[in-house]
Amino acid sequence: MKKEQDSPEDLLLALPKGRVADEVLPLLRAAGIEPEAEFGRPGSRKLRFTTNVPGLEIIRVRSFDVATFVAFGAAQLGVAGSDVLMEFDYQEVYAPLDLRVARCRLVVAEPAELASSDDPDRWSHIRVATKYPEICRRHFAARGVQAECIKLNGAMELAPGLRLCRRIVDVVDTGRTLQANGLVEVEHIADCSARLIVNRSALKTRPESLGLWIERLRKVVDGA
Ligand code: PRP
Repeated sequence: MKKEQDSPEDLLLALPKGRVADEVLPLLRAAGIEPEAEFGRPGSRKLRFTTNVPGLEIIRVRSFDVATFVAFGAAQLGVAGSDVLMEFDYQEVYAPLDLRVARCRLVVAEPAELASSDDPDRWSHIRVATKYPEICRRHFAARGVQAECIKLNGAMELAPGLRLCRRIVDVVDTGRTLQANGLVEVEHIADCSARLIVNRSALKTRPESLGLWIERLRKVVDGA
């Protein structure tokens, strides 16, 4: 039965869809959080789920939106990739714990035939397609490269072949997506992994209930 209203004591945990969630779920289980069965049902359109813990529910949102829900206090806890946190740099988001899963790297990639004769040290002006325009701007500004960053929401591996740009900035895990699209890594920007995030104001007003989950997950990650 649907509740009329959340109690101020209830906690909401925002989880991203996809790969990060798959790798984080075993950690949540080990910490004592078991989502309702519907959470794992393929094709489910549900977005909010109960758990075995009274007063703790889970919402499932897009990875970039996890940081936004937590930053505005709509969810008190969340799991977000460090790539997402680097892109937004929300002051209200505190990331106390590296969950050490969903590891990947942020890279610059370009078509293999271009890479064979290209020297990144000689770039002075480039155009890049990316889901991460802020990271891109900061990275290239620090390198003294003038960069035009075109925001895409996915499938940016298509962009070089369609002459939208010659290079992309994206996260790479296995490297299969780059390879399938004839691209190779030419510059490393950062190593990334999933982080537990907390809304700073909520942590001040509810240090015990939020601190409990931070510590339980810390023990799981540390293998204690
Ligand atoms: C990421 C990224 C690449 C892919 C890389 O997308 O944008 O497309 O994963 O992984 P690989 O190196 O193992 O091939 P993701 O699957 O997270 O989906 P999204 O584009 O919907 O964010």
